[in-house]
Amino acid sequence: MVFVAPCFVLAAATIGGNAAGHNNTENKVSIVMGVADTVPYCRVMHPIVKLLPGRHKRLKSGHPWIFSNEVASSNSDTKIEPGSAVTIVGDNGEVYGTALFNPHSLVAGRVVSATGDTGLDEAFFRDRIGRALVLRDRLFDEPFYRLVHAEADGLPGLIIDRYGDAVVLQLNSAGMDLRRAVIVDALDAILAPEMIVLRNDSQSRVQEGLPQGVEIHRGDEKARIAIRENNTSFQANLAEGQKTGWFYDQRDNRAFVAGLSGGARIADFYTYGGGFAIQALRAGAAHADLVDRSAGALENAAASATENRVAAQCRFLKEDALRAMETMFDDGARYDVVISDPPAFVKSKKDFNRGSRAYRKMARLAARLVSPGGFLFLASCSHHVSPAVFGDLVRKGIRDAGRSGRILRTAGASADHPVHPGLPETAYLKTLTLQLD
Ligand SMILES: C[S@@+](CC[C@H](N)C(=O)[O-])C[C@H]1O[C@@H](n2cnc3c(N)ncnc32)[C@H](O)[C@@H]1O
Repeated sequence: MVFVAPCFVLAAATIGGNAAGHNNTENKVSIVMGVADTVPYCRVMHPIVKLLPGRHKRLKSGHPWIFSNEVASSNSDTKIEPGSAVTIVGDNGEVYGTALFNPHSLVAGRVVSATGDTGLDEAFFRDRIGRALVLRDRLFDEPFYRLVHAEADGLPGLIIDRYGDAVVLQLNSAGMDLRRAVIVDALDAILAPEMIVLRNDSQSRVQEGLPQGVEIHRGDEKARIAIRENNTSFQANLAEGQKTGWFYDQRDNRAFVAGLSGGARIADFYTYGGGFAIQALRAGAAHADLVDRSAGALENAAASATENRVAAQCRFLKEDALRAMETMFDDGARYDVVISDPPAFVKSKKDFNRGSRAYRKMARLAARLVSPGGFLFLASCSHHVSPAVFGDLVRKGIRDAGRSGRILRTAGASADHPVHPGLPETAYLKTLTLQLD
């Protein structure tokens, strides 16, 4: 087991108070981050991290993070191994919960429980992952979804996407990275997956000081795996595809756009695996142009089109999307449905102005391609762009194109990507569907 907690475990029943001087109550229900601890987790004495005066207020209001400049630094804090569980204590001596701590990260603490002595053993992960599974079972008929969405599922820094018998993990914080063995044990107890892929190549790991890499932890590396979404089969590549291999967050939006697409000519920019276009073709669209600059993504999309018997209605274009929009317009191409779902244009705050201009340009170029009465679907997955700002950039871009219309639907990610109530910025996906005159 990789997890070596710098603490000692006490039998829950024997604890009357912990180092922070607060009382423990067996079976106490604590509510943190929208997740209530209803089971008697193993009680553990963690190292204590003290906050600077007044820096407990955000935690008290339900926000689950502690920034590095909020910690009263001391020698003992900096000696705490990155990823350790700690007890967070305010300067008033009050306990604000158990957090995963990384003294080298801007987000130094990620609260996992409102009680200060929650042990992060296999039982803890089995309970949290198990509850996430119960929710997904309620939401979906088939085992293809985001199983764990970090803070909103009470597991900050952990993403688990499920592809039938395969799971893909992203261990995006030092705390989760340190506990990979216990997380895999918990997954085995719940799902016993045949294939486990660790997609530890995210940018968040760099910010946590963690190495990047992709590892097939269990199972044979497969070039492609069959997945299902909205009653449609797709081919995805879990080890080499982007992120965890598939963007489940657009599931509901793909279904909505497919519903508008009967008999339509479609352009799907930034298509990745063809999620929007292929579902639209299956719903009766006449033709789709699928544009992406990634050859691998287009190969998967082509394999999925063949599997769904719509390949003859597809044209695959390996091009820069904005350039393709310009060329298509100049060539007189017009579409009944235009979809544009780019990568994040604003990856960090410093990109805001440049990225915002790119969204406005995308809205302008995409709007020009929509036939009168046709539909435009636009998305942004940039955390740093709020729904209001995105709406404003889209409005301006459509005006720049000399078009008018109406917003039919404003939406975000599907319900397997829940939002932490104290972290509204985790509602990263923003989408607008418009009809243009
Ligand atoms: C957020 S994903 C799109 C997801 C896709 N719409 C879906 O439904 O699964 C972004 C895609 O944009 C592609 N991409 C990134 N930059 C691009 C560019 N300049 N031109 C065309 N495609 C680009 C990536 O290869 C990736 O497939």
